[in-house]
Amino acid sequence: MTRHFLDLSDAGGNALAAMLNDAQDRKAARIGWAKGRADADAPLAGRVLAMIFEKNSTRTRVSFDMAMRQLGGSSIILEAGSTQLGRGETIADTARVLSRMVDAIMLRTDDHAKIEELAAHASVPVINGLTDASHPCQIVADLLTVVEHGKALPGLEVAWLGDGNNVLSSIVEAAGLLGFNVRIGVPEGYDADPAYVEVARSRGATITVHRDPREAVAGADVVVTDTWVSMGQSGAEARIAAMMPYQVNVALMAAAKRDALFLHCLPAHRGEEATDDVIDGPQSVVWDEAENRIHAQKSVLRWAFGQL
Ligand code: CP
Ligand code: NVA
Repeated sequence: MTRHFLDLSDAGGNALAAMLNDAQDRKAARIGWAKGRADADAPLAGRVLAMIFEKNSTRTRVSFDMAMRQLGGSSIILEAGSTQLGRGETIADTARVLSRMVDAIMLRTDDHAKIEELAAHASVPVINGLTDASHPCQIVADLLTVVEHGKALPGLEVAWLGDGNNVLSSIVEAAGLLGFNVRIGVPEGYDADPAYVEVARSRGATITVHRDPREAVAGADVVVTDTWVSMGQSGAEARIAAMMPYQVNVALMAAAKRDALFLHCLPAHRGEEATDDVIDGPQSVVWDEAENRIHAQKSVLRWAFGQL
């Protein structure tokens, strides 16, 4: 069976835990090394990943490229608009062709159905590099960051502030798989995707919704936010107005646990979802989180290739 990573549930809780361990071990084994040097065992030597971007990206494209280099393989980056996809070649045919040419495909797109279509017709692993529905690779990096900073995942209280978006959906999904809880502080009308919430609850996670942002962060071990206007969304003015009370500032961080971590997948809109003094403050781990995209992606890739 080809292993696709369209959502965290494709791997499941045990594999996710294995990825976090693998990422920590590999990261520790290459401290001080040149960033492009391959890991000693080069487990993906000779393998090639094709990445297709229908949306902008800095972290995802660089981290996957570096991940492939560190695993001993290489990658090809394709802007969708400059491929035949941009001229109407079908996703199914693209999947068939790329499956003959490369060993795995990563796609960043809008409609989640597009990545499902790609996976349905690909005979090599397909990895979700963000869709409007979810961003699973980001959450592997986020969990790695949390664990690295000494927090155990079972029973962890994670507060999410702002918009009920794709990143939140993957956090909620991870909560169900790894046994932590999510306190969602979002304004009415911008709620989390109920499908992900329902599944996480059915797996035993406590997912609560709070209209009062202070209530959402009360007792939280981790405070997370993201842009209020995701790529492809319109109505920025109304969104920003509705979400301003949920801004993560020093006063709101003070309502969480004293040693709470602050996470943001980036890019940040400083002064909107989070203030400079939080992003650059002592509780922020956003730069570790960004670096961890490389280490997390390596483990996602190893899982997709059947090595974990
Ligand atoms: N966090 C994240 O996915 O960043 P990019 O949009 O830069 O890839
Ligand atoms: N929610 C954001 C994440 C960017 C990495 C978006 O979809 O634009």
